[in-house]
Amino acid sequence: MQNDIQSILFTEEEIQHKVNELGEQLSRDFDNRNPLVICVLKGAFVFMSDLVKRMTIPLEIDFMAVSSYGQATRSSGVVKIIKDLDVPVEGRDVLIVEDIIDSGLTLSYLIDVLERRNALSVSIVTLFDKPAGRSVELEPDYKGFTLPHEFVVGYGLDYAEKYRNLPYIGILKREVYAKP
Ligand code: XMP
Ligand code: MG
Repeated sequence: MQNDIQSILFTEEEIQHKVNELGEQLSRDFDNRNPLVICVLKGAFVFMSDLVKRMTIPLEIDFMAVSSYGQATRSSGVVKIIKDLDVPVEGRDVLIVEDIIDSGLTLSYLIDVLERRNALSVSIVTLFDKPAGRSVELEPDYKGFTLPHEFVVGYGLDYAEKYRNLPYIGILKREVYAKP
C-alpha cells in the first residue's frame, strides 16, 4: 500500500495538530448551541472521529452518505443521497464535516437540502480544500489545509475504496490510477 504513494503531503502529526486547533475553535464557536455534527460518509469518517474528540462541548452526531466520484477521480456533478440523516435538522445549528472540497458540487447540494429543511444555521468544516477545482462558488467556514490540484489519499480518503486507513495524506503515483 505504501508503495503506491508518490509523496506524503501531510504527516500524521501535522494532521493531528490541525485537527486539535479546529476542535478548539469549533468548541468556542458552538458553545451552548448543541450542534448537530454531520459526517459526510465515507471519506470524512476519520476526520470526524478525531475532530469530535477535540470538541469539548455538548453535541450530537449523525451521518449522511451521498454519491460522488465512484471509482473515478473526477466529479460527475451528479449528487444523490444514499443515506439520509436519522434526525430532523429544523431549528438546529448544523455543522457539516467534510474530508475534502474539490468542485464544491457535493457540499452546495447538501447545504441546499439542509436549508430547505429549515436548519437554523449550516456551517462547514473541511480538513482539505482544493480551491483550484471549484465549479460553484463555495467557501468553507473552517478549513484545515489547502491542497494542490492533485488526487490525494489517506486519512479517510480513498482511491477505488483503498488507502482510507493510511494515517497520513499522500499523493498517489500516477501509474496506480492510469492502470488499465
Ligand atoms: P466535490 O467535487 O463535490 O467533491 O467538491 C467532494 C468529494 O470528492 C471526493 N474527492 C476526493 N477523494 N481524493 C479523494 O480520495 C481526492 O483528492 C479528492 N478530491 C475530491 C471526496 O469524496 C469529497 O467528499
Ligand atoms: Mg471518495
